[in-house]
Amino acid sequence: MLDNQTQIIKSTVPVLQKHGEEITRVFYQQMLAAHPELRTMFDPENQKDGSQARRLAGAILAYAANIDRLVQLNAPIDKIAHKHVGLHVLPEQYPIVGEHLLGAIKTVLGDGATPEVLDAWGAAYNQLADIMIAREKILYDEAHLTAAD
Ligand code: HEM
Repeated sequence: MLDNQTQIIKSTVPVLQKHGEEITRVFYQQMLAAHPELRTMFDPENQKDGSQARRLAGAILAYAANIDRLVQLNAPIDKIAHKHVGLHVLPEQYPIVGEHLLGAIKTVLGDGATPEVLDAWGAAYNQLADIMIAREKILYDEAHLTAAD
């Protein structure tokens, strides 16, 4: 990530706080319309009461607020990684989520979603995805070792 992208991410925290839930709602709708095979992964009960959208929005905001001190995110990332591994989330699914997250930010922010803002969020998402994929790989490897023992 470039220095000015870190600044852009930090400056978009208030906007995301205002639109966070709407962004995640649009994100889920558009992603599940484009990838119906992912529907079974997401618990329909959680989607109805909006708690999934709230948790994802919360995770994104926590990430944005701590972009320059990522060590603070170790505990939440670990918790999400365990949840993901239990659901068999795979590395190749991260670009799908990233594409639709960016698309939703674009839809909801309208003119506010300048190319600079979208580029910064694209870079930030890829950075977070790399961290989560690496953490989940360790958990998958550990599970594999245990099963083989
Ligand atoms: C950097 C990207 C991602 C972030 C920040 C993220 C964040 C989260 C968070 C905060 C939760 C809730 C955890 C909890 O309940 O404690 C969650 C759950 C979940 N995530 Fe992710 N996630 C990401 C990528 C993905 C990908 C690539 C997939 C695969 C399609 C995925 C599938 C799921 C599913 C199926 C759940 C459980 C939803 C439910 O409760 O029904 N996530 N994620």
